[in-house]
Amino acid sequence: MTQDELKQAVAQAAVDYTLPRIEDDSIVGIGTGSTANFFIDLLASHKAKLAGTVASSEASANRLRDHGIPVYELNAVDEVTIYIDGADEANPRLELIKGGGAALTREKIVAAVAKEFVCIADQSKWVDHLGTFPLPVEVIPMARSHVARELVKLGGDPVWRKDVITDNGNCILDVYHLHPIGAVRELEERINNITGVVTNGLFALRPADILLLGAEEGVKTIRAAS
Ligand code: 5RP
Repeated sequence: MTQDELKQAVAQAAVDYTLPRIEDDSIVGIGTGSTANFFIDLLASHKAKLAGTVASSEASANRLRDHGIPVYELNAVDEVTIYIDGADEANPRLELIKGGGAALTREKIVAAVAKEFVCIADQSKWVDHLGTFPLPVEVIPMARSHVARELVKLGGDPVWRKDVITDNGNCILDVYHLHPIGAVRELEERINNITGVVTNGLFALRPADILLLGAEEGVKTIRAAS
């Protein structure tokens, strides 16, 4: 199977997982990226069952609206029943690296609100240790050089993603050469404590609750190893 076929299979599994878990007033959180896009497109044929969604990016919000699916501001909803989103890497504790699509901050906010966070990914994203994928860090533009120097002190090699401005008007530093990240939660906190950082793409303080992983032998349902 191609990577896109695996993403499509896992997106279908996510639709099958989501539909029995939502009620008339449930709000579904929608992530960002190509796997999330497959999920949106497959969810569209069930839109009558959806009270509405919140989206982790303008791109996903626009795609949802194009399908006629209601999109709400997060501040306008009381809770998010379930959040479905992709990842750039996932480890057996279901800690993630996210932000390849530069949407990490809004993704982290929706994940924080969601009662259940379901990660959807093809098997290429499954790793023993995070950090081969360069870690995205969203930064207030005037702090870019300062944050980059601090990230070097942590052993990373930050590269400015020059062609990208986030939905929040900020820039992205991609931090190379962190692999293997050992104490993931500690690193997430340390990077977030650098003045000028909005957030970083480690999802360890709030990991996924469940991972649907698209593999050649079928979609695997993985819960966190303790
Ligand atoms: C966007 C993300 C995406 O979930 C991540 O980059 C995976 O993308 P894709 O589904 O295209 O492989 O974090 O900020």
